[in-house]
Amino acid sequence: MKSQDIRSKFLEFFKNKQNAIVPSAPLLLKEDTTLMFVNSGMAPFKEYFLGNAKPKSNRIVNSQKCIRVSGKHNDLEEVGVDTYHHTFFEMLGNWSFGEYYKAEAIKWAWELFTQVWKLDKDRLWATVYEADDEAFDLWKSETDITHNRILRFGKKENFWEMGETGPCGPCSELHYFVGDDLSKQSAKGVNVTDEYWELWNLVFIQFNRDNSGKLTDLPKKHIDTGAGLERIVAVMQDKVSNYETDLFQPIIKHIEKITGISSKNNLVPFQVIADHLRMLTFSIADGVMP
Ligand code: ALA
Repeated sequence: MKSQDIRSKFLEFFKNKQNAIVPSAPLLLKEDTTLMFVNSGMAPFKEYFLGNAKPKSNRIVNSQKCIRVSGKHNDLEEVGVDTYHHTFFEMLGNWSFGEYYKAEAIKWAWELFTQVWKLDKDRLWATVYEADDEAFDLWKSETDITHNRILRFGKKENFWEMGETGPCGPCSELHYFVGDDLSKQSAKGVNVTDEYWELWNLVFIQFNRDNSGKLTDLPKKHIDTGAGLERIVAVMQDKVSNYETDLFQPIIKHIEKITGISSKNNLVPFQVIADHLRMLTFSIADGVMP
């Protein structure tokens, strides 16, 4: 399936669950001075979570342009060296502003991955925040995941915050084993080795962190999910590198053409250049001046 179709299918799936499709916000939010660039799907919706503004619809779905090169979420050192981190990427997300919550988010994520996209259940692992028994039990009751594939992790892995302040909460992630030998999988590898890719993060937004670091309950509970389009496309196109997908290959081929150099023995520089070109192109188009 082509990347364009994968993006459309995601939007369509959630449209059928009564989520309105909305366009991506620009990469730079002039009104939010806590972030240099939009670093996650939820950044443009902060005011909805805080209850300071009302969305047109309480359930939406989108593909948000993101840049992660500074601040709390900074993937810069991994870019080009590994095969699945980027400065610029698209985050597919479904959103509930005070409507559906953990059960639906978990059930639908599993339905899309295993029934619609038919990802191999024997490669998928779910993680939950160590204290979140509710999410742990919902993976068992709402999906047919093998129970020993539901793992608990601490705050570093499973409590999501956009920055030093703002809306936040425990999260539950879906990880995918990209290795060749399925029998080599082990719970010990998840969140540890590069063979397990985080594909989707379901965040249960229920707190706000203020300037002093204190957490307070938000007036309502919300859903913020984020699935990296580039990684999903790699998995769906049976590749072990995002750079081998139709999102990057045309750029890499073009760099080869204009430089007369093959990418074969120069993978890292080609990957870095292709990644950065996308980031620069999208940010300039959104009004950022280099
Ligand atoms: N806000 C969550 C993330 O960026 C979905 O991972």
